[in-house]
Amino acid sequence: MALFKMKEEKGEAPRILPAHVGIIMDGNGRWAKKRHQPRSAGHRAGAQNFRGITRYCAGLGIQYLTIYAFSTENWARPAEEVGGLMRLFKDYLEEALRDFMDENIRVRFIGDPSAFPPELQALMRRVEEESSVKTGMVLNLAMNYGGRAELVRAARAFAEDVRAGRRGPADMEESLFSDYLYTAGQPDLDLLIRPSGEQRLSNFLLWQCAYAEFVFFDILWPDFTRADMDRALQIYASRQRRFGGV
Ligand code: IPE
Ligand code: IPE
Ligand code: MG
Repeated sequence: MALFKMKEEKGEAPRILPAHVGIIMDGNGRWAKKRHQPRSAGHRAGAQNFRGITRYCAGLGIQYLTIYAFSTENWARPAEEVGGLMRLFKDYLEEALRDFMDENIRVRFIGDPSAFPPELQALMRRVEEESSVKTGMVLNLAMNYGGRAELVRAARAFAEDVRAGRRGPADMEESLFSDYLYTAGQPDLDLLIRPSGEQRLSNFLLWQCAYAEFVFFDILWPDFTRADMDRALQIYASRQRRFGGV
């Protein structure tokens, strides 16, 4: 597992920087409720914060950042909220096209885009294509993503390869299985951050989190600051990872 040193900062000892960070952006609805605003206002504030934190992570030298934006279970929300989120995604992706382009961020989408409005799907393809030449941080945006759905999709793809004679059942092993996931070629998750007070995975990166360090904060996502990110990275650096060893 690759571990990277954080870019040297003045007066600070180098710390161990995680190669792959995951964030479950949670608590937008409660943030809005506290302010007597509609949930959509929370989602807007959350999306705004996503931009700032993503930039910050890229600046720190994090290589892979995976952000959970919409789960396969989030379709269960009222149609009005889902519709509002679709519009928000569209607006933000258009901005991302301009924004992240300047920052050498490569955007990839993980999840099943086919359920999204065609316009949004086209935009997602454009963002992926246009940022594919970037060489800095890889930003995986998990949209209509579910960990179980990802595993089922991988199993199906492997079964197809066996049926077509490209593979035999005995070829399957852990590293090959990883190649069938959306995150093929990327390191497993080192650090998972979930704000909002909930302490669960909610179907996020089930395979990739096998040895991730979990950091849970009692902060709602729109209130999550760069200082909170630093705090999570410090907690991560202070953990002893053993991977089953001693
Ligand atoms: C996370 O915030 C955003 C999405 C799931 C799209 P929530 O909308 O889940 O906010 P809470 O958990 O209800 O506060
Ligand atoms: C997880 O948050 C999904 C995203 C942040 C996209 P949820 O708010 O949907 O999770 P639960 O329902 O509290 O487990
Ligand atoms: Mg939630």
